[in-house]
Amino acid sequence: MILSALSHLLRLPAVSGLAQQSLLKMDTETAHAATIAALRMGLSPEAQQPDAAELRTTLCGLELSNPVGMAAGFDKNAEVPRQLARLGFGMVEIGTVTPRPQMGNAKPRLFRITEAQGVVNRMGFNNEGHAAAFERLKGLRVPAALGVNIGANKDSEDFVADYVAGVNTFADIADYLTANISSPNTPGLRNLQADEALKRLLGEVLAARAKARTRVPVFLKIAPDLDEAALDAIARVVLATDLDGLIVSNTTVSRDTVAGLENAEETGGLSGKPLFDLSTRKLAQMRQRVGDLPIIGVGGIHSAASALAKFEAGANAIQLYSAMVFGGFDLLDTIKRGLVAGVRAQGQTNIVALVGSKTTDWAEGRASA
Ligand code: FNR
Repeated sequence: MILSALSHLLRLPAVSGLAQQSLLKMDTETAHAATIAALRMGLSPEAQQPDAAELRTTLCGLELSNPVGMAAGFDKNAEVPRQLARLGFGMVEIGTVTPRPQMGNAKPRLFRITEAQGVVNRMGFNNEGHAAAFERLKGLRVPAALGVNIGANKDSEDFVADYVAGVNTFADIADYLTANISSPNTPGLRNLQADEALKRLLGEVLAARAKARTRVPVFLKIAPDLDEAALDAIARVVLATDLDGLIVSNTTVSRDTVAGLENAEETGGLSGKPLFDLSTRKLAQMRQRVGDLPIIGVGGIHSAASALAKFEAGANAIQLYSAMVFGGFDLLDTIKRGLVAGVRAQGQTNIVALVGSKTTDWAEGRASA
């Protein structure tokens, strides 16, 4: 991914025209691998100044210097969490990791919908497995909240057991865990969002968490393709447990916002700008159902205004990924500066004052960013 981010990391103006040409020829997944490699080599710029007081917030007891996170899927194998934190993310979520390593789907499996600033992926949880991620993370000091996103192997006989294994492996080294049951690229995984299956999953995951030495906050990451009855059922199940929060949302299987564009018909999950309205509406609709349960808002954030809108719709913190494919890591600073300006413009002193101020408008489809 992230050709422009890579360009930024390598400070492309200083790179020869020839090197620039070869970068531009890279396919999306190769560019992503090169970006991770560049980060690993320490080519990343560091955040220039400390975060403004307006952005300081607390999420499930975690002190965040800012509420903007790197979403899961960028650093699947926990290779660069420190570097991402130093770029200025307040949270870094690695994964999804599954118990055993798996290859994921055949390539190509990652596509840009350039005209709409969208991305379609059908990666299929390609990752090196729990043990490899654990080895990289143990003892590592990450200057941001470190999330570990856990999932199930495609050929697992018991998906729930895979999540429990994830809790057992990472509970004592993560700042929070995310049970990701919303990837469209592992057949059957999204069925865990249904009533009885979700009760069993959360029952076992939270029982495993209770046995760990540390009480690590656990989030559940859901799809944007749920209707209001499904949101009702999830809210009912979740509120009967001590789950700490929700992440809304993963990618969508719908293509309404990109119909007819190049790559739109590729199988997989759509993310980026064309996901923004749908995921923000689902976020607001979930906010209406769960009171003040913490929600991390994800999906289509591509500007300071869209980041601000997630908070107004009801998010306590936000994450992004796809927009950096097009805007590079510079977007992070743009968003943080825009959030501070937004807080001040509304006569407030902290981002927390904006949370949920437009939930009804977003839930009813009357708002846009
Ligand atoms: C993702 N996403 C994702 N989510 C997750 O929980 N586990 C994962 O392994 C992945 N993998 C992944 C790979 C790629 C290439 C993309 C683009 C996305 C979903 C991601 O975390 C996020 O929920 C969505 O992409 C919506 O946010 P953006 O990208 O629109 O900001």
